[in-house]
Amino acid sequence: MTNNLLSNMATNDGHGENSPYFDGWKAYDANPFHPQHNPDGVIQMGLAENQLSFDLIQEWVGSNPNASICTPQGSSDFKTTAIFQDYHGLPEFRTAIANFMNQVRGNRVKLDPDRIVMSGGATGAHETLAFCLANPGEAFLVPTPYYPAFDRDLRWRTGVQLLPVVCESSNDFKITKEALETAYEKAKLANIKVKGLLITNPSNPLGTFLDRETLKDLVCFINDKNIHLVCDEIYAGTVTTGADFVSIAEVIKEVPECNLDLIHLVYSLSKDMGFPGFRVGIVYSYNDKVVSIARKMSSFGLVSTQTQRMLASMLSDDKFTKNYISESRTRLARRHDMFTRGLTQVGIGSLKSNAGLFFWMDLRKFLKDPTFESEMTFWRVIINEIKLNVSPGQSFHCSEPGWFRVCFANMDDETTMVALWRMKTFVRKNRNLEIKTKKQCWQNNQHMLRLSSRRLDDIMTPHRMSPHSPLPSPLVRAQN
Ligand SMILES: Cc1ncc(COP(=O)(O)O)c(C=O)c1O
Repeated sequence: MTNNLLSNMATNDGHGENSPYFDGWKAYDANPFHPQHNPDGVIQMGLAENQLSFDLIQEWVGSNPNASICTPQGSSDFKTTAIFQDYHGLPEFRTAIANFMNQVRGNRVKLDPDRIVMSGGATGAHETLAFCLANPGEAFLVPTPYYPAFDRDLRWRTGVQLLPVVCESSNDFKITKEALETAYEKAKLANIKVKGLLITNPSNPLGTFLDRETLKDLVCFINDKNIHLVCDEIYAGTVTTGADFVSIAEVIKEVPECNLDLIHLVYSLSKDMGFPGFRVGIVYSYNDKVVSIARKMSSFGLVSTQTQRMLASMLSDDKFTKNYISESRTRLARRHDMFTRGLTQVGIGSLKSNAGLFFWMDLRKFLKDPTFESEMTFWRVIINEIKLNVSPGQSFHCSEPGWFRVCFANMDDETTMVALWRMKTFVRKNRNLEIKTKKQCWQNNQHMLRLSSRRLDDIMTPHRMSPHSPLPSPLVRAQN
């Protein structure tokens, strides 16, 4: 009855709020961990936030008071900032963003500020592109596992569909030509018009990034099919060690037959700078018509002039941005290693990764059987007993049960140690939960074998932890 009063959009389930991904957040909200006030609470590891380098931001803000209109030094700009409302954005903001994006991509690309279109975060950028590129009922192919909120961002209000390109652990979830062709053919059989391929590079949730050859293959694939390629590069600046991140902006220069009208980039400052609260999203398209229409649509998700003004100032400080990107990468790498190494010591593996604000944890051996029901059962144990909000693979459309995404950059060192310690305690107490035989498990994790269980205990026991260990925490005392 009540529903008749509202639109179909308002009453459908397209937001996805009822998925396990958001359920975990609710569990955290109901009982959030605090080292002193609630040491037994749930630790939030389902949030891909980059909080490791805020001291550097704060320092910059302190030494640049004129960047804010709320200081004596900047208040003379208050009126012009308050009344400015052009949807093209401040020229100095677009220039600063383009330069920052170039810098994050090793200055091997030269993005044009006139192609920068603002949106309300990458969330808004994806929806804008979906509106520009596809009609209701038409589809984008998306390699799995993928960021759960794509189902909301691209589908909910546009009526566009997302079709999985199934990627598997047997080749580290790489995107293969065969998987792309299979997904495309399946859509054709179902009479669904495919309008594009959407990739996230570096990947959320895998924490890996695509090599040049794979990117070239993708460019060839979309050109061959004459469909769009949308590249979400929101984690470009989080690549830590090893090979350099390769942007699609580099690769298209190396594929002469590429139709540039098909290529579109999504970016935001939510991850590389850690500013999701500012809602700075970017559509960067090589297609003039898309730039023009996306700009008109941007009226629905503009970045406030106050934010543009402040960020234009911050991001055009090359010395600051260079140091920030480098230091942020170092800190992310350190935290990533601290976590993954700690888990390896108790026999928990993860996909090898060096990007993003998370890693892809392999708990397949803990499932009663290889089903998504068992994954859900074990996830409830993680939430309710270990009290960690990690995100189950099924919410990322992973095709294989038993994988979980662990976010590691939204907390301090102490909380990290508590989280690790809880996992270790759980594994020790529940050795019998490891369903696979020791032999099988050991074959899969040869590098872990060298550690005897005595040594594992030594490493992970709180009194051997870093000076930042949670020793004084009542939780640790209680669990000891
Ligand atoms: C791959 C990916 N795209 C888009 C978003 C949304 O970002 P924003 O906060 O800029 O809307 C996220 C956030 O987690 C993400 O991981």
